[in-house]
Amino acid sequence: MSPSPREVGRPYAAALTELLGRAGAIRTQPWAEAFASVPRHAFVPEWYEQETDGRGIAVWRRRQASGTAGIADVYRDVTLVTGLDPATAKQVDTDAWTGVATSSSTLPSLMAGMLEDLDIEDGHRVLEIGTGTGYNAGLLSARLGEENVFTMDIDQELVDLAQKHLDSIGCRPHLLTGDGTQSWPGDGTLDRIIATCSVPSIPDAWVEQLRPGGVLLTDVALGIEGGLVRLSRGADGEARGFFTTNAGRFMAARNRARTYPVKERPPRAPETGSRSTTLTAARIQAHYPLRLVLAFQMPDTELVYYVDETEGMSLQLQRGDGSWARVPIGGDRELVTFGGDEGLWKQAEDVWAWWHLMGRPAQDRFGYVRKADGSAYAWYLPDGSRWDLTD
Ligand SMILES: C[S@@+](CC[C@H](N)C(=O)[O-])C[C@H]1O[C@@H](n2cnc3c(N)ncnc32)[C@H](O)[C@@H]1O
Repeated sequence: MSPSPREVGRPYAAALTELLGRAGAIRTQPWAEAFASVPRHAFVPEWYEQETDGRGIAVWRRRQASGTAGIADVYRDVTLVTGLDPATAKQVDTDAWTGVATSSSTLPSLMAGMLEDLDIEDGHRVLEIGTGTGYNAGLLSARLGEENVFTMDIDQELVDLAQKHLDSIGCRPHLLTGDGTQSWPGDGTLDRIIATCSVPSIPDAWVEQLRPGGVLLTDVALGIEGGLVRLSRGADGEARGFFTTNAGRFMAARNRARTYPVKERPPRAPETGSRSTTLTAARIQAHYPLRLVLAFQMPDTELVYYVDETEGMSLQLQRGDGSWARVPIGGDRELVTFGGDEGLWKQAEDVWAWWHLMGRPAQDRFGYVRKADGSAYAWYLPDGSRWDLTD
């Protein structure tokens, strides 16, 4: 008889658990036991590894968890992409594709940090939005018992696959198919909600189905940047909390099973000038909390890479009205070039000046409140700053 996935995975899962413990991602014994007992390779029999092909194009190459080396690779502390959007995926050779990722097995250290941050207690009922491979549902089931775990994905094919993976280790949490940002089809209230896809704001349904005192943990995507928030629901229907020390980002929740809608962008305003600036690309790239405050302060604005044959690569802010401003990456040029409203970059510079003046606070010093009426704001207690957030 061939060994079970749990037997095969045991030494690898033990090594991963130790690594996550040393990194401070696993902080408590129950989660160490869960990570040591759930074999990740049973959930990720194959995945796509990003590489650059001979023409310099980024492609996803299919890898399989077979043989000792293949299995060991699944137990690295890396995100493993497991699904590609069929609308964008193009096969470029026998086992490589280009395209947008639609599902993955999350970075284990991030997953462990989030599970610890949930402060789960025995007997809690937990809903996970974003089943993906089912690995996280397997971990939750190991910690809480499968009867207390509900997991939901928008893609029926992924749910079926996750069911198969969970079955292979004899684990049967409640699997649900549907848009997890809408009402939950289960009964009763929940103690915890964890989303492994991002949302622009907290859906009404999550607050409604969480008991007062319950906790929800999700990635809020705000345009320029986003972050993980851990919120407690009050009896008044308000959910309050802070951005967490974990700064991971997740793929966006979508409302269709397989594809993402194509984003419409306005035409870019013509270039109007350039000047020197102290807000360099290096500073924006180096400081995650700075990008978060930029996102609070500048709704309707994105941060993208811009490539120009003569200028090289830049970081560009672009707003919904077509205004833009960009700073070159690399070199020592402290120059901003812009088009449309010149005030766009000035606003960003003011955020940099404020964040620096405040002593460059980390993201977990910033609060997030989702009011009972659905509106939300971020705040910084020491100087009373508050930013109203729009979808
Ligand atoms: C990063 S993956 C989840 C990883 C997963 N927790 C694991 O352990 O493998 C994100 C998942 O969210 C799912 N998703 C996207 N939009 C969704 C929605 N509106 N409702 C439920 N699931 C959604 C995707 O199909 C994808 O499987």
